[in-house]
Amino acid sequence: MSKKAIVLAAGKGTRMKSSLYKVLHPVLGKSMVNHVVDNLKAAEVNDITIVVGYGAEVVMQKFDGDVEFVLQEKQLGTGHAVVMAKELMENESGQTIVICGDTPLISKETIENLFKYHNENSAAATVMTSVFENPFGYGRVIRDNDNNVEKIVEHKDASEEELKVNEINTATYIFDNKLLFQNINKLQNNNVQGEYYLTDMIGILKAEGHKVAAYINEDKDESLGVNDRVALAEAERILKTKINKTHMLNGVSIIDPLNTYISIDTQIGTDTIIYPGTVIYGKNIIGSDCVIGPNCHFENVEIGNNNNIKHSVITDSKVGSNNKIGPFAHFRNGTFVRDNVRIGNFVELKKTEFKDNSNAAHLSYLGDASIGENVNIGCGSITVNYDGKNKYKTTIEDNVFVGCNSNLIAPITIKEGAYIAAGSTINKDVNKEDLAIARAKQVNKEGYARKFK
Ligand code: UD1
Ligand code: CA
Repeated sequence: MSKKAIVLAAGKGTRMKSSLYKVLHPVLGKSMVNHVVDNLKAAEVNDITIVVGYGAEVVMQKFDGDVEFVLQEKQLGTGHAVVMAKELMENESGQTIVICGDTPLISKETIENLFKYHNENSAAATVMTSVFENPFGYGRVIRDNDNNVEKIVEHKDASEEELKVNEINTATYIFDNKLLFQNINKLQNNNVQGEYYLTDMIGILKAEGHKVAAYINEDKDESLGVNDRVALAEAERILKTKINKTHMLNGVSIIDPLNTYISIDTQIGTDTIIYPGTVIYGKNIIGSDCVIGPNCHFENVEIGNNNNIKHSVITDSKVGSNNKIGPFAHFRNGTFVRDNVRIGNFVELKKTEFKDNSNAAHLSYLGDASIGENVNIGCGSITVNYDGKNKYKTTIEDNVFVGCNSNLIAPITIKEGAYIAAGSTINKDVNKEDLAIARAKQVNKEGYARKFK
């Protein structure tokens, strides 16, 4: 059976009070709508249509072209949003999950379970529900005397009696695709908000004599719908707790899980220890036996085994194994630090390869550089890679010693085994095993200091 999805992401998110469109607000570094789409894909729902409206351009930029978009120019309700996909989808058979861009926590497993339940019950439509202690603001699931779902009533439209119901609509549904679009135009907007509610489809299909089922998601934390920043922080807390727990059960030590933020797309090897204040966003692979933090910030990194990294920022870069990094190192834009290196405080690497057994222990900028093995970069040394217009490359071959406070003006090559005298500004290539000195000669004036006393 072909599985399709419609993701509702056209709303402005008025309650967020933000210039950023609601579904783009991040949870652990990833936009809510990306969470939803990634969870669908993980559950093997690959035919995905996203309804965009507010900030359509910006939302569309968040995807690589393996999803379809339809535009909802005016936000006339969740049902109206689904109508926007009619032309594209109405003739297809199969099952369609409709899910909101503001429910980022509904997991792959739950999506799979929902499809399973829908099929086991041979239902025409299945709504996913949860039982909330405080159902305020959510649509309520109204059941008949036989405990079958009858309809969904929005909070704003509910009677006193209906408001007492604790079972809420998560706004995630599976529909028989053809049936959904055959009936979608029956939605009316005669309600308090004057909107076309998708929720009414449940009552409509039921009244037409179709089988409507309700799947109760017992993991109610997942069912959170993010409408304001309080719920956004709650989503962050719930997901963080879940992710950190999984890592800990898999053999990672997290010293203070309340104060450690790890994205859902991060793998970490066993016996790695993570100290507080560490933020790991994006897609990452981190090896075993590392000590990370306190206060590291990583984004899209690949890090090998047995590294010790303190108080450092690493983005879009790779690190091998057995390295000692930080405190206060910064690697960015495709840097690759290989094995057994030492990179100390206030050393910045950009688009730089730094090979085995080399050191840059203090205060350096190495940009657009290739640095060989067994190289020593002295304190305060800089690859001068930019002339205000273009960037140039520095190549430092194996066994080079760069004395302190040197400027290497790129493009430049320092050949194998060469020495750069401290304080030099080098703008010509240096040959193998040569010593380059480029600084003013020292003059000592005998007894001259007495003049100043
Ligand atoms: C919706 C449900 C409610 C459910 C709750 C769960 C309806 C009418 N209500 O309420 O029963 O308990 O979710 O979280 O469906 N959107 C559009 N176009 C529109 C309107 C909304 O694309 O015209 C999108 C929004 O971007 C959002 C999603 O649909 O991602 C849900 O809309 P929202 O306004 O947040 O609905 P709720 O009031 O939360
Ligand atoms: Ca919502």
